[in-house]
Amino acid sequence: MRTAASSPEIRIDSYLSELDERSLAYDVLDGLTRPFKEIPPKHFYDARGSELFERICELPEYYPTRTERSILDASAREIVRVTGAGELVELGSGSAEKARILLEAMSSAGTLRRYVPLDVSESALEEAAILLVEEFAELTVHGVIGDFERHLDRVPRAIAGTPRIIALLGGTIGNFPPGTRRRMLREISRLLGPEDRLLLGTDLVKDPRVLEAAYDDAQGVTAEFNRNVLRVINRELDADFSPDAFEHIAFYDRAHEWVEMRLRACRPCTVLVSGLGLRVEFAAGEELRTEISAKFTRARVQEDFLAAGLELECWYTDSDGLFAVSLGRRL
Ligand code: SAH
Ligand code: TRP
Repeated sequence: MRTAASSPEIRIDSYLSELDERSLAYDVLDGLTRPFKEIPPKHFYDARGSELFERICELPEYYPTRTERSILDASAREIVRVTGAGELVELGSGSAEKARILLEAMSSAGTLRRYVPLDVSESALEEAAILLVEEFAELTVHGVIGDFERHLDRVPRAIAGTPRIIALLGGTIGNFPPGTRRRMLREISRLLGPEDRLLLGTDLVKDPRVLEAAYDDAQGVTAEFNRNVLRVINRELDADFSPDAFEHIAFYDRAHEWVEMRLRACRPCTVLVSGLGLRVEFAAGEELRTEISAKFTRARVQEDFLAAGLELECWYTDSDGLFAVSLGRRL
């Protein structure tokens, strides 16, 4: 572990190391040798990937970010009143724009103590920490640079007598396949004390045209974001993907109720991943799956909660029913 502090109010622990460079290596080796090629989505988010994601959040077609923010704007005070929370733990915190809304509500209620962002992206986490301690005098930030699939046990213990909210926003839970999703929810639920709550953001099932546009914008930012994973592999594993030889694909799978993102080889190509001593062939039109983004209904959230030992306590949505924020507690 490496600890860095840029001010007395900020502590940042890093658990990403060589081991995680190997995690990319294992994922790429598994993923590119499968019958249907696939790369897990966490590898999108290097510094450039995080910046591209910030741009996606501002696109006219990408409604989830602004909708979730409007739901939080409308309900943050109630959430803080219901929970009495003074601490926010956020998994996959990114730029922490949404955390700010909840921290603001805790500050107004006089309960605010600590923010614990956890993210694989070091640059995003550090920037967010510095801005937030300037904004809230009473706040301390204890950041964890790590992987929420492996480092949940590194989340600091709760402050005695201060209920906390553990948040997973932005529809990130939808990026896991259904079994992994329930396992993640159960692992998160183990961090919850009797007074603590889970705050979960989920995108909702809707018109496929709206969904597909959100993942395939007119300016091509999402396409660049998708291709960024190839640049990460080129850099980290000394590979020779030509990102421009891959076309961005996004479609709604109605049977599974998820959006799938893929990269399609425009022509036959051979890719050498020198760091793995691996040669990979792509046929013309062959696709590499880079992400799923599951869409939910209230019933599905409730079922997933129950399967993870959680009770759905409150459900907040926007007037168009585009997105939902759920509050859950341990059963
Ligand atoms: N919560 C923010 C960001 C969502 S994007 C929002 O709602 O706008 C997803 C975030 O999760 C990114 O910041 C990414 O770096 C992070 N992330 C993705 N996979 C991760 C993993 N396995 N462990 C930790 N963070 C992860
Ligand atoms: N959690 C986000 C989502 O599922 C991630 C995301 C948004 C994303 N746009 C993307 C991932 C485009 C890959 C490509 O909505």
